[in-house]
Amino acid sequence: MTPPPFGIYLHWPYCRAKCPYCDFNVHLKNAASPSEEKIASWLIQEISGLRAAIGAREAASVYFGGGTPSLMPPRLIGLVLEAIERHFSLAADCEISLEINPEDASPAFLRDLRAAGITRLSLGAQSLRDEKLRFLKRRHDSRQIRKAMSQAARFFDDLSVDLIYAVPHETGASWRAELEEALGFLKEPRRAHLSLYQLTIEKGTPFFRARKSGRLAMPSPARQAALYRMTQDLCERAGFPAYEISSHGRGVSSRSRHNLLYWRYGEYAGLGAGAHGRLILEGRRFATETPRQPRLWGQTVETRGRGWSMTPLSPLQTAEERLMMGLRLAEGVPRQSLPEADTPRFQEEEGFLRKKGLLTESRTHIRATGRGRLLMETITTALSLALSSPPSSPSLPND
Ligand SMILES: C[S@@+](CC[C@H](N)C(=O)[O-])C[C@H]1O[C@@H](n2cnc3c(N)ncnc32)[C@H](O)[C@@H]1O
Repeated sequence: MTPPPFGIYLHWPYCRAKCPYCDFNVHLKNAASPSEEKIASWLIQEISGLRAAIGAREAASVYFGGGTPSLMPPRLIGLVLEAIERHFSLAADCEISLEINPEDASPAFLRDLRAAGITRLSLGAQSLRDEKLRFLKRRHDSRQIRKAMSQAARFFDDLSVDLIYAVPHETGASWRAELEEALGFLKEPRRAHLSLYQLTIEKGTPFFRARKSGRLAMPSPARQAALYRMTQDLCERAGFPAYEISSHGRGVSSRSRHNLLYWRYGEYAGLGAGAHGRLILEGRRFATETPRQPRLWGQTVETRGRGWSMTPLSPLQTAEERLMMGLRLAEGVPRQSLPEADTPRFQEEEGFLRKKGLLTESRTHIRATGRGRLLMETITTALSLALSSPPSSPSLPND
């Protein structure tokens, strides 16, 4: 049996400032923080530890995420990639992505990233409007972003742009103009991708506290839904249909192969502070995680030879995860990959959700409709419950 595609995620845990909406594992540097060299050497140790644990594999994708991985010097990125090549083979068309913040996109830096082996850039623009950028407390303005976008296109032909929408007081007209501008820019690169996220208010963030105290009023659910529909419509007409709830590629080749690996429930290693992974060892799937504090993660790598610990997932947990990830995709979840769904209880729930217009009719896939993708939580909760509940007891014959 061919193993599922395999990818490697590397987390750079530092940012220049914490964004008020972000709950990712992000830290600010201080005098006690490990040096960049040290972090890279821990990542390199992680790569050799990973090889010892899982054996030889071919990586279909490598992803430098964060935090702000564009704070990592390209020389160190090159060393980490060399270590990956030494211990694993890279697929001929391996996608090697890096998230870059607009303020880092100087020609020299972009050239060095390319030379280090990065093939795809994901630009954390978040908005092309100054007022919105100020609200999101970003460190760049729209002029810098436009410059970053055109510089990035000089060096890379595989580009993605992240934008956030449905922020307080955002009108349909202003979001439309912003999105059209981004779509216009993305006509240029050979592979072009947009990640369009509705602003979500995450627990523990400054925005969460602001909403709680009434200082931040989010758009109503109806307004959010209208903006979402407008987004789908505009992107589709521009040739960027959604292949996942928030992800739009111009054609199949522009889709993020690394992110597809998560949603199609492939296998991936998560290395670096606070990274998560899913590995299959001796036929069993494991969830892996590393300590969130960079120094603690590094100490763990040094003392144990690897920073990650792993927990086995039960067949039910595996089925639930496969379902939750796959339902985010426009293609849905292939039925043959989820035999656990082949029960009367699950089919009953599916029938109910189909009647409500949330799932499509399909023999081969479990797939959400456009409306269903707006109500993803409802669908996944209902279907997960159906997966886990015992078969309903046969009805008693009437006496
Ligand atoms: C953790 S960030 C890292 C990217 C990069 N360092 C930056 O600052 O743009 C990854 C992406 O998640 C999205 N994101 C993070 N928190 C979000 C939230 N609360 N709501 C919507 N999108 C969010 C942003 O679009 C961001 O580009």
